[in-house]
Amino acid sequence: MNVLVTGGAGFIGSHTIVELVAAGHKVVIVDSFVNSSKRVLANVEKLTNAKIPFIETDVRDTDKLIAILQENSIDAVIHFAALKAVGESVQKPLEYYRNNIDGLLSLLEAMNVTNTNQLIFSSSATVYGDPDSLPITEEAPLKPVTNPYGATKQMAEQIITDVCKATDLQTVLLRYFNPIGAHSSGLIGETPVGPPNNLVPYVTQTAAGVRESLTVFGNDWDTPDGSAIRDYIHVVDLAKAHVASLEYLNNTSDETTAINIGTGQGVSVLELINTFESANNVKVPYTIGPRRPGDIASCYASADKAEKLLGWKTEISLEQALKDAWNWQRLQN
Ligand code: NAD
Ligand code: WQD
Repeated sequence: MNVLVTGGAGFIGSHTIVELVAAGHKVVIVDSFVNSSKRVLANVEKLTNAKIPFIETDVRDTDKLIAILQENSIDAVIHFAALKAVGESVQKPLEYYRNNIDGLLSLLEAMNVTNTNQLIFSSSATVYGDPDSLPITEEAPLKPVTNPYGATKQMAEQIITDVCKATDLQTVLLRYFNPIGAHSSGLIGETPVGPPNNLVPYVTQTAAGVRESLTVFGNDWDTPDGSAIRDYIHVVDLAKAHVASLEYLNNTSDETTAINIGTGQGVSVLELINTFESANNVKVPYTIGPRRPGDIASCYASADKAEKLLGWKTEISLEQALKDAWNWQRLQN
């Protein structure tokens, strides 16, 4: 298929392109490079051994998107392009709503005009808020979220659902849990700007001496060791879920399908640090600090629907993901 990947120079987009090309798809990339660098694209080409057309533009430029969809006979779009820093979204709500919501509206309009009817959307486990029960299934109610970033994902899901009802558009809403790791080649990975917000990049930078010490945000949660529990998924496993979703869209008549993309396993912050240290034979200095505002105790997926509908499940262990994250970190600088 001819697939447009928005945000293709980013962390998840770049890994997904590698898997799309390996599966025989033709990819076109759109990115504004607001949170990525052009250098990534050269490494994606190295990994895929393919020339991949890219257009530097903001997805809010609807006319340009229409031209790109037409000129490349695009069959399906994977929409990664969004701003994603939870804390920053609280400081800059307008920027987040403008980028993530206007960007989506622009894309949906362009797809509508060009009759491009298949979409895979990057949603997030954040839409579940603090869940009532675990593991989280797709039927769990969406709870109020306390930050604009999470709100953009909930609104986006609603907008897409409405458009799918009214038009021929079919969408898979992929609700990612916690993506980590990097490609085993060390050619692509996650490059946070400034101090990382997410746990694993903070762990790798602390192990590398870039940061002095990691703060564990709370050891008084209602969990077995007191630290918070999440579902950490290797980015390459996550990337493969997009390839499976394209195939699913070709075989379903459903308008909108929400699917959790996680391992189904909950791992605590302290367990993750221990696994990182033993997998890589390196120490991570840490202290226990207060809880981070907005955090919740536990969040992990039921991965059953993904296996049933997509025939997909995770294959890479937490240990391997943390080895790949460390390999990527050591290749930086
Ligand atoms: P990323 O920041 O690495 O990649 C996003 C890419 O989109 C970047 O290359 C950025 O330059 C581009 N972009 C942003 N706004 C744009 C715009 N208006 N026009 C064109 N390009 C634009 O982020 P990621 O981790 O790869 O996340 C990809 C998607 O997955 C995002 O929608 C994010 O919200 C979602 N998601 C990420 C996580 C995570 O923890 N990484 C978890 C759940 C969901
Ligand atoms: C994981 C755990 C922290 C840093 C966020 C977004 C979510 C999604 C994924 C986009 C938590 C703890 C962290 C640190 C710590 N993104 N932690 N010390 O919060 O589960 O999810 O990223 O959609 O929307 O909210 O991920 O990696 O920030 O934190 O103790 O320095 O690690 O408290 O328990 P989170 P995270």
